[in-house]
This record gives sequence, structure tokens and C-alpha cells, in this order.
Amino acid sequence: MSWTDYASAPAPGTPICPESEVGTVHSVQVATPRGSFPLLIARTDAGLRAYANACPHQYLPLDSRGPQILSADGARLMCTAHGASFDIATGAALAGAPCGLDAVPVESVAGMIRIAAG
Ligand code: FES
Repeated sequence: MSWTDYASAPAPGTPICPESEVGTVHSVQVATPRGSFPLLIARTDAGLRAYANACPHQYLPLDSRGPQILSADGARLMCTAHGASFDIATGAALAGAPCGLDAVPVESVAGMIRIAAG
């Protein structure tokens, strides 16, 4: 499943949040005309990354059982439901999930993060 398959997938240009709100990982519901879209934004050494907040194990939000989804070393996103983990910079599955997180293209323009053109 790709993030664009969600009925609520936000269109390119949709504003998400000010970049200043993003620490290392930020979980946000993006309001769209067709409902809210769950998004994770991560600040990595390679720049901003964003993923649909749906763990490919059982499609629960990674933070369904609490906000602590960043590994102690800051390199992985960890699902609070059953412990799957993902590379924070690529979304690739490292353990516990059959595939990686769906990357969502984002860009920061004048301090505002928004959905980029794919
Ligand atoms: S839903 Fe994420 S590990 Fe099971």
C-alpha cells in the first residue's frame, strides 16, 4: 500500500506544520478535505523525512501506545504496538515488519513544512 492510496492523502502543497515544531520526530494529523492523514516527520542527518504513520505489521500508528517511538540512539523509529523498527532515514524495516514505512515527500518552504510534489 502506498501513502497515495489513502483516501485522505494530502495533495502536494498541503501545509503540515511549522518546521520549528519538529524536534527529532513529530507525529501529526494532516487535515484534508477527505479526512485526516496520519504523518510522522523526522529530522535526520540527511534532512527532513516523512512517513505515513501506519506500521506495516498491522497498520497501527507507530505511536498507538505512547509517544516514545524514537530509539535511544536516534537511528530508528519503533512501533509501540509490537516493537517493529525502521530506519529513521529511509523508513526501511529493520525488524518486526514485512516491509518499510511509506515515505511521503515533504519540503520546507519559508519555515513551513508542506507536502512536496512526488
Ligand atoms: S502494528 Fe507495529 S509492530 Fe505490530
